[in-house]
Amino acid sequence: MNQQFKVVASGKYVPSDIVTNQDLEKIIDTSDEWIRTRTGIKERRKANEEVCSDLATFAAKDAIDRYQYDLNNIDIIIVATITGEQQTPSIANVVQGKLGITRPIMSFDINAACTGFVYALDIASSLLQTKRFKSALVIGSERLSSILDYTDRNTCILFGDGAGALIIEQDDQARPSYFLNGAKPDLTDVLTVRGTIAMDGKRVYQFAVDIVEKSIINVVEQAGLKLTDIDRILPHQANERIIQSVSKSLSLPMEKFAMNIENYGNTSAASIPILLAEYMADGHQNETILVVGFGGGFTFGAAIFYI
Ligand code: UT7
Repeated sequence: MNQQFKVVASGKYVPSDIVTNQDLEKIIDTSDEWIRTRTGIKERRKANEEVCSDLATFAAKDAIDRYQYDLNNIDIIIVATITGEQQTPSIANVVQGKLGITRPIMSFDINAACTGFVYALDIASSLLQTKRFKSALVIGSERLSSILDYTDRNTCILFGDGAGALIIEQDDQARPSYFLNGAKPDLTDVLTVRGTIAMDGKRVYQFAVDIVEKSIINVVEQAGLKLTDIDRILPHQANERIIQSVSKSLSLPMEKFAMNIENYGNTSAASIPILLAEYMADGHQNETILVVGFGGGFTFGAAIFYI
């Protein structure tokens, strides 16, 4: 079934506190040089007072204010996260409440780790396609600092806090969008959160390089397009070297990929919507974009849609 929607607003929120690589040098055995050359990260944000639902609500408000969107139109709220401040009420329920939406709309969370936003967008647009709903607010929000072990240099240098939001509306006139979401479960504890994040970085890296390349090729083929039809690829921001490797294997210049990892590190489910909000705020419109993510599970996903 075709998924036809238009993107009507996007927004982001990142906490104001910045943690630089030099700050991390003071608490663990690492160096700015190692972090920059191995990951591309220079700094990341760390929430102070804000919990996950605050980050999500501020990103949603940014989208609503920036595009002067009437929040009374919103019929569905989905939040992709692995760092909600509680299991229930869901973070999406809390966002609905904090936004002051009193109509009995559907709001719920999903967990697909760093691929969460791509999954959530697929779910939202599929629901819109039933025509029972007109408008969906899709958010990726993470307060990863609350699940980091600051004695583990393999993980604590990588992650940051933030949220991104997208509002989409069903539209029969819109060009069809394409999704390809999946999972390849690995039950050997390669990437887990049981209290804090633990990860075998090398194995995640190998999975990522392979699946990002395949996901791009497969979703482009499914859409009946060519790589040259895509204006920009917005990949999950986990490690700049992963994207450099994919850029090389697909013979695409690095300029084809939007990147902001140096400023925020890996914000898991928030990374793609933050990148997208910044991309749209830069004035990009009437473009065909491809988003691609991967993460714990393993999960992976890609989508082609129009902004
Ligand atoms: O969103 C999805 C979740 N995660 C990812 O996508 C992560 C994917 N993986 C990666 O990005 C990379 O594997 C890392 C950045 C995590 C690690 O980079 P690497 O090039 O794979 O390094 P490594 O784990 O092979 O470690 C190389 C060396 C080791 O030292 P020895 O054994 O060669 O002496 C590590 O102990 O670097 C050392 N090391 C560090 N040194 C300074 C590991 N972490 C650090 C650190 N600072 N923070």
